[in-house]
Amino acid sequence: MKSKFVFFSIIILLLFSNKILADDKALAGADFEYGQHLSGECVTCHNSTGLGQGIPKITGMKTAVFIKKILAYKTKEKDNAVMQMVADRLGEEEINSLALYLSKTK
Ligand code: HEC
Repeated sequence: MKSKFVFFSIIILLLFSNKILADDKALAGADFEYGQHLSGECVTCHNSTGLGQGIPKITGMKTAVFIKKILAYKTKEKDNAVMQMVADRLGEEEINSLALYLSKTK
């Protein structure tokens, strides 16, 4: 009986650690402060006064959503000359850091 409990505990632990590792992997190289630093360039457009002029809010966005949107500009799947240029210059580490910072910012 007891060994069965230990066995299941280990399985559950493994499942959870796997999930944590997967999340970490999805945000490789992400650094909150680096993201904050990089966002300095974004807020010239993405500020509260720009919201009424077709510039969407990017804070509080889920990391996966943000990454998907940036990659869509990078691959030119989404059409916007300014954002394609912005996205073009961002590498994986930059995108992940921005994703982390913006997801934790209101
Ligand atoms: C020169 C102005 C400007 C700058 C600088 C800028 N953006 Fe944008 N951004 C826009 C505009 C305009 C749109 C809307 C484009 C569209 O309609 O597809 C947009 C759209 C986006 C979107 C999609 C939002 C959504 O909900 O669809 C994301 C994400 C984004 N920007 C992130 C960033 C990040 C991150 C930076 C800084 C690295 C940045 N932007 C810098 C003007 C800018």
